[in-house]
Amino acid sequence: MLTSPVVSPSKETTSLVFDASILQKETNIPSQFIWPDHEKPLLEPSPQLDVPPIDLKAFFSGEPHDVSNATRLVNSACQEHGFFQVFNHGVDVKLINEAHEMMNLFFGMPLLEKQKAQRKFGDYCGYASSFTNRFSSKLPWKETLSFRYSADPNCSTIVRDYFLNVMGEDFSDFGRVCQEYSEAMSKLSLDILELLGMSLGIERSHFRDIYKDNDSIMRLNYYPPCQKPDLTLGTGPHCDPTSLTILHQDDVGGLQVFVDQKWHSVTPRPEAFVVNIGDTFMALSNGLYKSCLHRAVVNRDSPRKSLAFFLSPRMNKVVRPPTALVEDENSRKYPDFMWSTLLEFTQKHYRADMKTLDAFSNWLQMERNKI
Ligand code: OGA
Ligand code: NI
Repeated sequence: MLTSPVVSPSKETTSLVFDASILQKETNIPSQFIWPDHEKPLLEPSPQLDVPPIDLKAFFSGEPHDVSNATRLVNSACQEHGFFQVFNHGVDVKLINEAHEMMNLFFGMPLLEKQKAQRKFGDYCGYASSFTNRFSSKLPWKETLSFRYSADPNCSTIVRDYFLNVMGEDFSDFGRVCQEYSEAMSKLSLDILELLGMSLGIERSHFRDIYKDNDSIMRLNYYPPCQKPDLTLGTGPHCDPTSLTILHQDDVGGLQVFVDQKWHSVTPRPEAFVVNIGDTFMALSNGLYKSCLHRAVVNRDSPRKSLAFFLSPRMNKVVRPPTALVEDENSRKYPDFMWSTLLEFTQKHYRADMKTLDAFSNWLQMERNKI
């Protein structure tokens, strides 16, 4: 069943519930979804971003020409905007398709069913839509289902267990697919980290070692069709606070990146994953690689799905750039921090946007000066 949003008061005083099955019949959308004029999407098509496609299989062949080709492309894309795509990535197409089918199944359920996995206030896991988080204006036109993945061998069934606990036995297949998909994304991220390490001229295993026990977040994004796509956004402009994002978008399109003062669209390539640098990796590269502003627009006709794996280090890992990227301590762009502190900052104090990393650095310095 295809959904449209309905707004009704919920337990939380000011918040409302976004039920996707009724609002489509309305002519207008609730005012909370209407973005200010300067942030509204343009109706005409945006220019396309040149997102270099990287052949991972060729990179891993070790053939010097392929290796230098891949590292050169990644280096310039990451210094410029932080977006590239990988293909020949080794992830089973069947698994990707299964994950999309599972998403159709989940988001197609009635609101009450989806709410079994309702995200709790201050938590980052669970089912959420605009009105269930802490903001009441500039709301994104989407529903999400997020869950934690850990590469720690002691947590090898963490995703499956989560779905069994919150959704029950009927979701064991759903949990299995989400577990397998997250594992595939973790593995792919570690491969990409070797490429990133080489592209920065440092030891190829350096970043892989940092993230081998990653504690990441997987998010399923579902954007229902919207009768007023020119007034709202599916995801507002933001930089990902996490380290790397590995995104698989369906063939509908909607992802946009802000480069050279303009929004550019990223054309979907179902055989590829879009990779982007997040704030934490930007700090880890001492600001060399960019975490770039991006957003998602919605459309009138087709629901859109994307699967985002947000690679993050273990919670208490200290984020500190390798010495080769730091001339001396004065050339450090960001202070040392633990990932858990940045995560908490974005959960409790700050709505992720293009200035998250700077705001976080300043906040951290202030907090440290208090001691
Ligand atoms: C995100 C994001 C873009 C998309 O989930 O952080 O930027 O295309 N998603 O869904
Ligand atoms: Ni994002």
